[in-house]
Amino acid sequence: EQIKKGNYDHFMQKEIHEQPHSLTTTMRGRLKDNSVVLGGLKDHLKTIRHSRRIIFIGCGTSYNAALAARPFLEELSGIPVTMELASDLLDRQGPIYREDTAVFVSQSGETADTLLALEYALGNGALCVGVTNTVGSTLARRTHCGVHINAGCEIGVASTKAYTSQIVVMAMMALAIGADKISTQARREAIINGLSDLPKKVAEVLKLDGEMRDLAKSLIDTQSLLVFGRGYNYATALEGALKVKEVALMHSEGLLAGEMKHGPLALVDETLPIIVIATHDACFSKQQSVIQQLHARKGRLIVMCSVGDAASVCPMGSCRVIEVPQVADCLQPVINIIPMQLLAYHLTVLRGYDVDQPRNLAKSVTTE
Ligand code: AGP
Repeated sequence: EQIKKGNYDHFMQKEIHEQPHSLTTTMRGRLKDNSVVLGGLKDHLKTIRHSRRIIFIGCGTSYNAALAARPFLEELSGIPVTMELASDLLDRQGPIYREDTAVFVSQSGETADTLLALEYALGNGALCVGVTNTVGSTLARRTHCGVHINAGCEIGVASTKAYTSQIVVMAMMALAIGADKISTQARREAIINGLSDLPKKVAEVLKLDGEMRDLAKSLIDTQSLLVFGRGYNYATALEGALKVKEVALMHSEGLLAGEMKHGPLALVDETLPIIVIATHDACFSKQQSVIQQLHARKGRLIVMCSVGDAASVCPMGSCRVIEVPQVADCLQPVINIIPMQLLAYHLTVLRGYDVDQPRNLAKSVTTE
């Protein structure tokens, strides 16, 4: 076990730091001459393009990765994309039709709820696509087609490198599905260039390790943490909060910033730490206004922004700022989750909890 961890103390730490490599592996051989080639999907692209909707189905981190991919899949395909937590779909026996494409996302490919939802969708005649890290898994075998994320074996119960590879695979799927649209060609080319640059940018953001350890020290005794995101980074808020919750055993909640005034604002005081994700994209000015409102209520603010934006997100210098490299807006969730993963890791170590095997959790949840 020690050998496999290399120079790292924990698998989670190793898996966070190997993301420049795992993302490279995820994309290897799939980006060619300004286009994306996904062998496992190519015979089904036409059917997917004619779907009446695409449904993402998964649990936990895999669901969050799909949520991060949803905006640009909608943008590039022009097809409505809906989200389903596998257990909720099963509880409701929600309608699924043969004109639907159901995309199942699962690192292990063995999560019981996701597999039961897959059988349900197959029974309803939908085209079923798998996105998994595990070759030969039940998910890979039971779906009609799919894409392996090729992130390499993930041991830590907290999913880290699989999350970023899942987003990248779904970005590539969106590019492949939308490849027949001339109107979005320039946008697609910009995203493909962004994908090629991504491992380098991930290596850059990993240099925040020390800074995130310092931040973790300042949060070690807090009871609770809120994370506000929106747009492409609503998923980052949910996933960042999930990481802190599951390994650092600290209550944390990811929230849609657009919902702040509809309840969560009542929680704001000088003690509750709030992370606001405000990197540069179409929602930036709305996030600036969220920061101002939280500031006016004396919130304890930690703002994640693009490099160079510190002064505009935090004019009074009254909040702690985490500056991250800027990439294509739809790929920014891959960058933004990394400081959150580092924060969760360091909080866990500092609080003295088990990093790789948090209490009560299993890597793969094979019972309903
Ligand atoms: C991730 O950190 C969690 N341990 C958990 O939410 C996990 O993502 C979920 O159980 C789904 O697992 P899967 O991707 O293997 O289906």
